[in-house]
Amino acid sequence: MARSDLIINLVKAGVKGDAADVRATAEAIAADERAKKHTGVADRITRALNTTKPMNGNTQSRPGLRVRDGSGGIHRREPTRSINELYLEPFVRSACDELIEEQRRADVLRAHGLEPRHRILLAGPPGNGKTSLAEALAYELALPLFTVRYEAVVTSYLGETALRLKRLFDFVRTEPCVLFFDEFDAIGKERGDIHETGEIKRVVTTLLLQLDDLPSYCVLVGATNHPELLDRATWRRFEIRLNLDTPSAKQMTSYFSDNLRIFEETPGYTAKRLFEAVNPNNFSEAENFFLDVKRRIALAQGERDLRSILDERVKAFNERRYLPDEGDKDE
Ligand SMILES: Nc1ncnc2c1ncn2[C@@H]1O[C@H](COP(=O)(O)OP(=O)(O)O)[C@@H](O)[C@H]1O
Ligand SMILES: [Mg+2]
Repeated sequence: MARSDLIINLVKAGVKGDAADVRATAEAIAADERAKKHTGVADRITRALNTTKPMNGNTQSRPGLRVRDGSGGIHRREPTRSINELYLEPFVRSACDELIEEQRRADVLRAHGLEPRHRILLAGPPGNGKTSLAEALAYELALPLFTVRYEAVVTSYLGETALRLKRLFDFVRTEPCVLFFDEFDAIGKERGDIHETGEIKRVVTTLLLQLDDLPSYCVLVGATNHPELLDRATWRRFEIRLNLDTPSAKQMTSYFSDNLRIFEETPGYTAKRLFEAVNPNNFSEAENFFLDVKRRIALAQGERDLRSILDERVKAFNERRYLPDEGDKDE
């Protein structure tokens, strides 16, 4: 069968829920890839077949609902945001592009006895794209995004937390994915609440060991607003460390310029003047400003001009500035 027919067959079998047919077709694809000397891909297909547990019976429940294995600590999502939608400093973008290339062409690296990098730490104040970038990396790599659910992992019993962490990683390593630890400092930060330092150490040690053991087809993305809370041993685990800092005036001006361009009317503001009038603290605020403008335009149904809407939103935005940024869950 031609390659495209195999893929179509796979999709049909998957939609029908015919597990035997899915397996047979996937094995055929693996054989086909192997014949083309794409051994890396072939190995990954075989591994996915052998290590991913089928769902029980005919229940439609997603694996994320199971509790006893590590999947309960994970929220699984298909990413939709591409990296081109994000405004990134050139050094951030090129580091991400390198990671993406290494992952996509891992076969070439492995043929030379090398592994692709797969652990990246994103630091920086809220609202500048840490979560979005984790999603974009998953999107570019065509991998599912697994977000760790701390509420399902961290308990006041540290022994139990360590056990759950271990289960979580056992589950994660069964398939290529982007594993996202938002607020990566959270586990370490529990320190303040708990007295048994020996136990806490065990949790952190478990976490570090698991990070070391993570296969390179699982891309770990850690995010933190408080990089200073991470100890050196943790810090060192990440092969790429990037700071997504508060945007520069230049970046913000280009963000405003691109966003103004989508309106049909002339705005009566240059990008720079509008940016200075709004003066957002981060991309999240800038995004919210433009969403507000679009809502007002939609509701005005052509009865108001863009300039007056922008004036009104600038004023409203500045009057409400005392409210903390919604992206800042950490304080
Ligand atoms: N660099 C960026 N470029 C474009 N949009 C951004 C950027 N950073 C953040 N945003 C927007 O702001 C919102 C919040 O960003 P998020 O990724 O959650 O930030 P963080 O995780 O750093 O707090 C997102 O919906 C995103 O669209
Ligand atoms: Mg975030």
